[in-house]
Amino acid sequence: MKTRYPHNQPIAAAMHLWPLTTVIDERGRLIIGGCDAATLAHGYGTPLYIFDEATIRAACRTYRAALASCYRGETTVHYASKALLNTAIARLIADEELGLDVVSGGELYVALRAGFPPQRIHLHGNAKTRDELEQALAAGIGQIVIDNLDELEMLVNLTAHRPYPQAVALRIAPDIATDTHAHIQTGHAASKFGLPLAALDAAATRLRETSSLTLTGIHAHLGSQLFDLKPYAAAIDVLLDSAARLRDYHELTIEEINIGGGVGVPYTADQRPMDIHAYAALIADTLTYGCLQRGFPLLRLVIEPGRSIVARAGVALYTIVATKPLPHTRLLHIDGGMGDNIRPALYDAHYTVVLAERVDAAVEEVVGITGRYCESGDVLIRAAHLPRARVGDILAVPVAGAYTLSMAGTYNLVPRPAVVMVKDGAARLIQRRETYDDLVARDV
Ligand code: LLP
Repeated sequence: MKTRYPHNQPIAAAMHLWPLTTVIDERGRLIIGGCDAATLAHGYGTPLYIFDEATIRAACRTYRAALASCYRGETTVHYASKALLNTAIARLIADEELGLDVVSGGELYVALRAGFPPQRIHLHGNAKTRDELEQALAAGIGQIVIDNLDELEMLVNLTAHRPYPQAVALRIAPDIATDTHAHIQTGHAASKFGLPLAALDAAATRLRETSSLTLTGIHAHLGSQLFDLKPYAAAIDVLLDSAARLRDYHELTIEEINIGGGVGVPYTADQRPMDIHAYAALIADTLTYGCLQRGFPLLRLVIEPGRSIVARAGVALYTIVATKPLPHTRLLHIDGGMGDNIRPALYDAHYTVVLAERVDAAVEEVVGITGRYCESGDVLIRAAHLPRARVGDILAVPVAGAYTLSMAGTYNLVPRPAVVMVKDGAARLIQRRETYDDLVARDV
């Protein structure tokens, strides 16, 4: 007899994990962007990553509209491209009129090649190389976010003979604790990122003597996957105090406050989505009051969401290749795993899964979803609640859009997945599957 596990949530209770266009059709099949997920899997092969264009566009618009409606000063949303970047995504983000954050010469190259306007690009990074800084300067990007005094010195040298100044921002480590995985906390004083507050004066002094660099902003990023709004308010206060110090002691006037990444996203049914409007209202109110208190005009408010722009739009599809019975459970071995999604192994991240062709079938067993890589830690999901699954079935994992493909590797020389964008019943390949030829393309 089929039993429903009491703690299992049917997909209807977890629609907030799936792309906005998701429907389960009358046969129980998963439809995204008007396309049948299993049919795409059979057509393009697996692992396959599907992105729903409407969900990405909606996330961009939600952030922009929320900031614009809550803050009376100027606002800008930059997409943090480390979450996911390829040519199609760069174009979509440009089309939505967001700015773009890059953290490497590679991300900058992809963005520029896709036609992303350089003026709307910011370059981040705690260890930008000389080559990367030269590349950014040559491209005429909108802002370089200086992370440390050595980088500042390098930039002073590289810009010495330029005819016009380069806009820069200072990233500070605001010394604010956050409640997220230790690997993705960045706001504390011992973080490798950002200038310690004690180094602010030294940076300011150097910037004052350097006419080839214009300080336009001040930046802090607290960490990723945050659900608590309070640290953002604390960060704004630290940033504004720093801005006041720059003004009062160094006669440096900044135009913008950048509070870094966006809100956390739910990965499992028990987690709820953050209210972007509440987030925008809190940071807008804190900034408005803080500017007033310190005698600043309303400074431009900049945010850099990555995960919350693309996570929900992405669904990963895998084929069950083999199974292994264990005394009290079974393992379903899939054709992907840590190569395309390292998050469970790296952060103990949790995901959910459904059978793409029997989404609403009753749950019959709790199984482990194990990846194909030669690593015992390659377990995508430790306890997945599924109907009885068979070899050949297609598994669909939601909230797979952020920090999966962008962190993907070719361990075991398994080629990286194909990526498809779906919209209005049509699917288009935006990144082909890696080939064996790609794997040897660099060998000499
Ligand atoms: N701005 C800066 C300076 C950042 O370092 C980050 C993320 C963001 C913005 C975007 O934050 P988001 O809106 O995505 O939370 N690989 C990890 C996440 C690393 C985040 C790194 N920095 C993960 O898979 O959870």
